[in-house]
Amino acid sequence: MTTESQPILQLNNVEAAYGAVRAIRGVSLAVAPGSVVTVLGSNGAGKTTILKTISGILDPQKGSILFRHEKLEGRDPAWIVRQGLVQVPEGREIFPLLTVRENLLMGAYTRPAHEKDEVAKDIEDVYAYFPILKERRDQPAGQLSGGQQQMLAISRALLAKPTMMLLDEPSLGLSPKLTRELFEIIIRINRERGVTLLIVEQNARIALKYADYGYVLEIGRIVMHDTCAALREKEDIKEFYLGAKETGVREGRRWKKKKTWR
Ligand SMILES: Nc1ncnc2c1ncn2[C@@H]1O[C@H](COP(=O)(O)OP(=O)(O)OP(=O)(O)O)[C@@H](O)[C@H]1O
Ligand SMILES: [Mg+2]
Repeated sequence: MTTESQPILQLNNVEAAYGAVRAIRGVSLAVAPGSVVTVLGSNGAGKTTILKTISGILDPQKGSILFRHEKLEGRDPAWIVRQGLVQVPEGREIFPLLTVRENLLMGAYTRPAHEKDEVAKDIEDVYAYFPILKERRDQPAGQLSGGQQQMLAISRALLAKPTMMLLDEPSLGLSPKLTRELFEIIIRINRERGVTLLIVEQNARIALKYADYGYVLEIGRIVMHDTCAALREKEDIKEFYLGAKETGVREGRRWKKKKTWR
């Protein structure tokens, strides 16, 4: 953490499993209000599991999760959204047959009916971040490109008026250029609206460039954490996560040495 303020989100020794598969083991992390924190890890490390456990989709077997002094364990996902903590799921999970605008309205489902006018204004506000969504507002969301669907998923989450967003691999399937553009906008949302962000990523290069603080997750455990500036300088991070530079692999490409990162 970069500040001495109380964390907005804190996980203490959280364990979660799918039947006999122990997916995360003793995960502790803290997110300062207003900051951008990333969790890095390769396929199957447990990144999505951490987010599902925070947002109430999966109940932890052990440990505690605190969001603005509220305990989240055992809470219903919709209640957690109403507290201002909203997840943007991996693979977007937009509604393909609904229009772009209808998808955005779905994001406001936890808000009371009397906020209708305010919701309409909030839709205009997200169009300012992603003008392409305004152009495509009456088109079925299934016809959007991968990058546009990611923009829609983020915008839909914003319609819930979050204090904090959990982003599951926003770079997934996007070109390096589009990934950079998307991160620029994500960071603007953080800076302009004060939305705290927890971003899980395999793309270490982009995540370490934009986030303030980072955790490295390996087979369900946090093995390292520091400011992103410090992580970028660590030898093992350079070797296993930012190896692209030395090997000449293009920016934005997935790690080459995933299997050796143990
Ligand atoms: N629904 C499920 N049932 C059983 N095992 C699961 C389930 N979902 C995930 N797992 C297992 O839990 C572990 C962590 O998975 P998780 O999806 O959290 O990884 P991840 O870091 O998000 O990976 P990826 O980068 O591929 O999205 C893996 O071993 C995975 O096989
Ligand atoms: Mg995942």
